[in-house]
Amino acid sequence: MKVAVIGTGYVGLTTAVALAYLGHEVWGVDVDATKIRDLARGHPPIHEPGLEALLPLVQPRLHFTTAYADAIPGAEVILIAVGTPPGADGAPDLRYVRQAVEALALHLDGAHPVVAIKSTVPMGTGRWVRARIQEIRAEAYEVASNPEFLRQGSALHDTFYPNRIVIGADTPRAVAVLEALYRPLLEQSFPPPKGLPRPSGLEAVPLVATDLTSAELIKYAANAFLALKISFINEIAALAEQVGADATHVARGIGLDARIGPQFLRPGIGWGGSCFDKDTAALLALGRAHGTEMRIVQAARAVNHHQRERIIEKLTRELTTLRGRTVGLLGIAFKPHTDDLRDAPALAIAHRLIQCGAHVRLHDPVALARARREHPELERAYREHPTEVFEEADAVVLVTEWPQYLELPWETLAPRMRFPLVLDGRNVLDAARLTAAGFRYLGTGRCIAHTAPAPTPPR
Ligand code: UDX
Repeated sequence: MKVAVIGTGYVGLTTAVALAYLGHEVWGVDVDATKIRDLARGHPPIHEPGLEALLPLVQPRLHFTTAYADAIPGAEVILIAVGTPPGADGAPDLRYVRQAVEALALHLDGAHPVVAIKSTVPMGTGRWVRARIQEIRAEAYEVASNPEFLRQGSALHDTFYPNRIVIGADTPRAVAVLEALYRPLLEQSFPPPKGLPRPSGLEAVPLVATDLTSAELIKYAANAFLALKISFINEIAALAEQVGADATHVARGIGLDARIGPQFLRPGIGWGGSCFDKDTAALLALGRAHGTEMRIVQAARAVNHHQRERIIEKLTRELTTLRGRTVGLLGIAFKPHTDDLRDAPALAIAHRLIQCGAHVRLHDPVALARARREHPELERAYREHPTEVFEEADAVVLVTEWPQYLELPWETLAPRMRFPLVLDGRNVLDAARLTAAGFRYLGTGRCIAHTAPAPTPPR
């Protein structure tokens, strides 16, 4: 099939590469000429494992252009994968969707492609897109909602091995066309790309075929649910610290119940990234617009926001004051294996620490260059080598669980600090090893004798 993918960000680029690998003729369109030129030379604008290696392999079937006139005519499917950044009131700003729709509509031909929206968009957007195209072309075109659920850092893996494919459309033909597009994924009938083995037991991928609006809501509901699982375990973690329990054990103890499930129950600094904050804020705004108060989503956001403040509270308690203290932060990216800094907890914590009068040092194995570009206000904090954040520091906080940090020469680091305190914001470090190396180690939501209150007899 000829497929046009509009927008070559995380979602668009990964989808385009995967579809080309599956044998489709794919045209990636973007208004950013520099990005398109770099992509045509094989340089992806984002750090995503496996992407750079796969690009040359699919090159014969993958084209990048800024011209809709190259991409749209003859396409059987047009995927819209442009950004929907948060607008002023929390509702997504749909200007890029509107621009893409108006630009593509000018080049539609008699082949009647299905226009599918991959971008996360409010309920009702699909219907609006259909109406807008009809207005421009004076003819009806089929529009579908086809949300994606990929995670940054494992975007290709998630695209090749999704746990479901959601297609929302109001006509059977639109569903059938998209089903044909994704058939190799649905049937898992393709040879796994090098370095991306198929998860064991995955033989077929379920298809959820529904109406446009339900598909749009599925995306928001999925992200909100994942976000609230994280906030739930973080709330339990706060209590665990007070009563002297270990929230990681609680997570395992509840997660083995299949009705709850083990994933997204890792206590820590809370979620960051481009999706959860934006999509939960959008859900609140959409709820408000439709007279529905989303109380659980609201609570999940409040808990998450407080996670960052809890680090400040812990440091203040441990160091008596933050004024004049030096705090090192390990990890800037919102999660490992990406250089994305959107809603990164490390940046929020760094700014709060500075506000409290502390000196901050920041390191990240991959995101440092991007941090320098996007956050020059923290220039004095950046350090090239992770051990530099320990030098004469009063505390080091592990914010992002990059595997590299587990390999640090921990045995040599405590003596380099003024006060050897480590806050493990992700519970990934070896508490016994660090304690033996002379650190005062504090995990997140874990039983720590000296921070737990004196035991009180049961009533
Ligand atoms: C998320 C969704 O997983 C994905 O389906 C959707 O399409 C986009 O948003 P992403 O933001 O890339 O993907 O990362 P994810 O791995 O989901 O992690 C999100 C955040 O939650 C990270 O900051 C992570 O550190 C945090 N997290 C995750 C926890 O704090 N605890 C957990 O148990 C899981």
